Amino acid sequence: MKTAILCSGGDCAGMNPALKYYVEASLAGGDTPHFIYRGFEGLINGDIREVSYPDVSGIVARGGTMIRSARSERFKDPAARAAAAANLADKGIIGLIVLGGDGSNRGLELLCEEHQLRGVGIPATIDNDVAGSDYCIGVDSALNAIGRCLDQIRDTAASFRRAFVVETMGRDSGYLALVSAISSGAEICLIPEIPFDLDSISRRMRREFDSGREYAIAVVSEATDASNQLVSIFQEELEIDSRLTVLGHIQRGGSPTAFDRRIAFEFAEAAVEALQDMSKQATFLCYRGAAIAEHPPGALGTLFPETLMERARLLAR
Ligand code: F6P
Repeated sequence: MKTAILCSGGDCAGMNPALKYYVEASLAGGDTPHFIYRGFEGLINGDIREVSYPDVSGIVARGGTMIRSARSERFKDPAARAAAAANLADKGIIGLIVLGGDGSNRGLELLCEEHQLRGVGIPATIDNDVAGSDYCIGVDSALNAIGRCLDQIRDTAASFRRAFVVETMGRDSGYLALVSAISSGAEICLIPEIPFDLDSISRRMRREFDSGREYAIAVVSEATDASNQLVSIFQEELEIDSRLTVLGHIQRGGSPTAFDRRIAFEFAEAAVEALQDMSKQATFLCYRGAAIAEHPPGALGTLFPETLMERARLLAR
């Protein structure tokens, strides 16, 4: 069977190991793997190439994706999807694996429905916001990248009497911010999933600075849009010198962690196997209870265990 893989949306560490294990599992099972370059854009343009072992040698430790990614507006157009399906048909490809987030899954679902293709979606995004999945490839690597930055910021924060507001990515999800706040011992965390009270945070910080606190670190999810406001509270209300660090795309880069490489391996193996199932069109893989599973499409949002939520409520007051 001829199959193909593409990466869609924001890249993340772990995509390269997933590509490598897809190629290896496909060849081992007698399939013919293909890469599609630049996501759905490349699929529309017919940028597809058969690959083998030498194409994926040495990529397991590299961040990003060697086949590149794209956010394709064009793929929303049924005519573009028809062109994409025709390109697959030209090469005799009947199964497509997509590494990406919810938007990428929706694109894959439409393509499979409209053109009777078999597809498998693998959750891969630092945002950890794919419906039904506890975990997406790339999250652990992003958390480690953020963690290293927060540790470094703590060094300089602790050398002054200062407050640091550190803004993380995550789009509409506060997962990266919350887990980073917990794992770095931050004093404040603002995420969209938990209502926060800036007046109450200001009062708490005043009490703590009055009783000897020397510095503070706040981790703020980009989705809250509250970073500048928090800096002003420290600066103007509390008269504590304050700095904002927006971590930006640093969070997406870097070598994948061992956990992301292992999960990428498990997802790739499961995806190649799922493509063998002739009875299904689109399958969406997820990670549940420390195992790969299948999940029907639908918006469940990010799942936070209750212990994390409890901590989030404390850090937002
Ligand atoms: O979806 C991944 C992500 O990194 C988000 O966390 C962030 O909001 C967005 O992509 C940034 O997108 P871009 O790379 O297009 O600026």
